[in-house]
This record gives sequence, structure tokens and C-alpha cells, in this order.
Amino acid sequence: MKLWQRTILAGAALLFAAGAAHAEDVKIGFVVKQPEEPWFQDEWKFAQQAAKEKGFTLVEIGAEDGEKVMAAIDNLGAQGAQGFIICTPDVKLGPGIVAKAAANNLKLMTVDDRLVDNSGQPIESVPHMGISATKIGEAVGDAIAGEIKKRGWNLADVGAIKVSYDQLPTAVDRVNGAIESLEKAGFPEKNIFNAPQAKTDTEAALNAATTVLNAHPDIKHWIAFGLNDEAVLGAVRATESVGIPAANVIGVGIGGADSAINEFKKPTPTGFFGTVIISPKRHGYETSVDMYEWIADNKAPPALTLTSGELATRDDYQQVRKQLGLQ
Ligand code: GLA
Repeated sequence: MKLWQRTILAGAALLFAAGAAHAEDVKIGFVVKQPEEPWFQDEWKFAQQAAKEKGFTLVEIGAEDGEKVMAAIDNLGAQGAQGFIICTPDVKLGPGIVAKAAANNLKLMTVDDRLVDNSGQPIESVPHMGISATKIGEAVGDAIAGEIKKRGWNLADVGAIKVSYDQLPTAVDRVNGAIESLEKAGFPEKNIFNAPQAKTDTEAALNAATTVLNAHPDIKHWIAFGLNDEAVLGAVRATESVGIPAANVIGVGIGGADSAINEFKKPTPTGFFGTVIISPKRHGYETSVDMYEWIADNKAPPALTLTSGELATRDDYQQVRKQLGLQ
């Protein structure tokens, strides 16, 4: 073979390698804000399942603050990744994340928490998968209202702990959905007490809820709702720590991962009455497959996907999980 023939062949091989992305060449990052939370561990687990099935590499990164997010994106770029999915610790990092992804030539999708621009509007150009926050919040409120009725409590005597995290739009939508359902059922607005949490974990929710309980020692019956299971578990732990019996508390969370299931498995019922189970499989597996197809087949993901939830209580969580294909 002449030198010029060899050169052409080598050139063709290079072109081929650069053009088509082989599964084994695809590397995708999955960045989450709270790696210790069971929900995010489940997302990673299902994302890894997608990686195994499709044959790409998935890089799991925990990024609890803005600095870590920016470093993670640079790191993915340096590793030769082609894209990433992120649940950001702060949605206001939106424009910075978009710019950083572009600078590193990385495709970008968000999961759970949608990025906002400088005026607080969702960044619609970034494909997103989140939960139907208002609807799921309404399901929480309906479940609590139903249980209040069943227990025969007088609505006027019940206090509500609203565990809030107002810098996160999905958190606002979830608690507002719950409040709407409760008020529809006749729950008095004046009995709803705000418990703003400094972080979205159980400890921060416990601290926030304790302040509310201490301010209203006269109230006998309590309900609790918030962003997720961790928020409601924090409120329930707070009621326990001030000596309110479990039978006087109805907390309903959102999530359905181990934090909730372990609570249901306790031999004696606690004030954690139920959870609206959402789907870490859709959020982890589907976003990863979407990103893979975007990279490998140039098929852009849907702009917005909102997933649903299903109420489960201590009594029926095993059946509900089975129905949802979680067991
Ligand atoms: C937010 C919450 C998580 C989980 C997801 C679901 O990110 O912090 O606990 O509820 O939404 O999308």
C-alpha cells in the first residue's frame, strides 16, 4: 500500500471515530445535590441500569453547593463526557450551569429541580423531568384531610406544620397544592404554621418544626407536610421530641424511598402516616436513556416531562409498591 493510500485510510478511520458515537465512547454525568438522600441513591441506581443496558459509562457526582457543581462540570468536560443530567443544589445557578455546560461542550438536562434564569423564570431551553408538583401536593392534602375525618378530629383544633423551602419552586408548588386541598376540605388557614427549613434534610425540618410546636403548646392534634419525606419525617421527629403521641399526628410525605419505607416497617406506627410514592426509575433511568439517545442518535429529549405519584400508607405500601413495579 502506498503512503497516500494509507493516509486516506487512516483519515477515514479517524472521521468514522469522530462521527458516530459508539456506546462504549459515551460518557454521561449524573450530578445530584444530596447524594446521601435515598431518593438520589435510587436515581443513580436506575441511571446505572440504563448505562449497563445501553453500554455507556455513567459518572455519579454529588455536588452540594455551587462551587462543587462548577468543578463537576469542568471535570466531566476534562474526562471527555458528552453530556450530563443534574439536580442542582440551587436552581438560581441556572445561567451559570448553562454557560459552563456550553463551555465544556456538554449536553445538559435537568432532573427534579428546574433551573431558573435571572428573573426567576424556568429555563425552558434545557430539557427537564420533574414531578407534577401541584397535583402531588394536592394528593398529600387530600390524604391528610381524609385521615383527619377518619380520626374524628375537630378541624378547628388541628395545627398544621408547613415545612417550607421557598427558594425551590417545586417545593412551593408541592406545599401550596397540599394547602389548597386542605382548605377545600375546610381546614382553617389560621391554623397553618410556616416552618421554613434552612436545608432540605430531616434535621433542618426537625429544627424548623420544633420552633412551631414550641410556639403553640396548647394545640393537641398536628398534621405535617412539606417538600419530601425528609421534611415530614423531621416534623414527625419534632412532635415526638416534645412528647406528642403518634396517634395525634398525621404526616404525609413525598418520595417513597427507604426513608419512608423504613418508617412504615417500625413495629409501632409513628406520626408518619403516608407518602406519595414518586418514580426514581423514571427520573434516573429515563433521563439517562434520553441523554444517551441525544448523544448517540442526535435525538433531542422531550422539553418537559412531569411524572405522577401514588399515595401509600403504612397499611398498603407493599401493595402500592408492587403495583408500581417497585418490588
Ligand atoms: C426535589 C427534592 C427531592 C425529591 C425530588 C423529586 O429535588 O429535594 O427530595 O423529592 O425533588 O423530583
